[in-house]
Amino acid sequence: MDFLERDDREVLELIRKEGLRQRMTLNMIAAENTAPPSILDALGSVFNNKTAEGYPGRRYHTGCRVTDELELLAVGRAKSLFHAEHANVQPHSGVNANLGVYQAVLRPGDALLSMKLSHGGHLSHGDPASLTGRVYRSFHYGVKADTEFLDYDEIRALALKHRPRMIVAGASSYPRLIDYGAFRSIADEISAYFLVDMAHIAGLVAACVIPSPVPHADFVTFTTYKTMMGPHGGIILCKGKYANKIDRAVFPGTQGTPTLSLVAAKAVCFNLATTPRFIEVQQRTVRNAAVLCEALKVKGYRPVSGGTDNHLVLLDLRGKGLKGDAAERALEDVGILTNRNVIPFDPESTKTTSGLRFGTAGVTVRGMGEGEMEKIAGLIDLALTSPQERDVTNRVKEEVGALCLRFPLPGFAEEEGRDP
Ligand SMILES: Cc1ncc(COP(=O)(O)O)c(C=O)c1O
Repeated sequence: MDFLERDDREVLELIRKEGLRQRMTLNMIAAENTAPPSILDALGSVFNNKTAEGYPGRRYHTGCRVTDELELLAVGRAKSLFHAEHANVQPHSGVNANLGVYQAVLRPGDALLSMKLSHGGHLSHGDPASLTGRVYRSFHYGVKADTEFLDYDEIRALALKHRPRMIVAGASSYPRLIDYGAFRSIADEISAYFLVDMAHIAGLVAACVIPSPVPHADFVTFTTYKTMMGPHGGIILCKGKYANKIDRAVFPGTQGTPTLSLVAAKAVCFNLATTPRFIEVQQRTVRNAAVLCEALKVKGYRPVSGGTDNHLVLLDLRGKGLKGDAAERALEDVGILTNRNVIPFDPESTKTTSGLRFGTAGVTVRGMGEGEMEKIAGLIDLALTSPQERDVTNRVKEEVGALCLRFPLPGFAEEEGRDP
């Protein structure tokens, strides 16, 4: 950070403040994680200075020999990690990855069948608020009212009725495993493409902790910054027969130049994902989510679908007379970061919500285990039930601070929020 000290102390100060905030709070936002310092090194590297429209060997700029080597390395690592036939590592984000897939094989006006946003789906799966909902006609499936598991009979019935050109599986707040084989056979019945957006769970898939969609899907997209513990970016995997279409859809179809420093960080991320430490963290993330879920259940909170199979727990707060927005604030006040989330069939708006979403990736990477999950469940309960009682909230804050000090963020130096 020496150069920042010289050129911009104001931003340096904000970086230090953010580092402190990250060190001294419990990050239970399911869509976040802490990237190791080597990822930050790659992000801040000289690859930032390279512009390289196109693909290795087919660039629209000169000086790309090293860049080509880097992109081929990242692509090779992504393919090998996920046993995929082709990978495109250029999407700037998860939404860009999805746009790339749609652009590759759909025409404006084609129909998409995907999970309802209100049941856990994502905006970029054809929601009217997103460009994807304007360009494509979208139809949505949900979970069953009684079990809150995906309803494959409903998915099949909707597929037969609307005959979408693409079926999308994957979610932002679905705590259960997805039956990719069932989706594949429905897609085959109507000759639809099958896309899986595994943005949240890619790290668990990479570590073989939960089943992979890659053998079943035509296309798989994911983000590299959630359970993957890497930089903020997106990836597309696909069958070899779609490789050219996907590459053309990303550039020039939906993006311009790739961010090469981001590609470098993705390559590091895929390398780290093969290590025993990464695999162990992913295994513990899932175990920790199950323990947290059970401990909250014992305290009278209802997890949507009754439990979890992955890194996230979605709580229905109605039984406690709480709303998601107030609960999110009460927890932030004591240093526990979560986010309000609609639950299936939620009577509340997305601003208020009846639900709260927790993820265990961010605390697991600090080395926390089952004992800490039980402890955190107790702290959550105290903060939610006594948000106005100063002595209680102060005690919870202190305990959160003590946990943060006992389990430091890996690789973070005191003043700078990262290794020097
Ligand atoms: C299922 C899913 N897809 C896509 C995205 C979008 O990723 P990004 O914000 O990187 O564009 C998210 C983000 O949380 C997500 O949960």
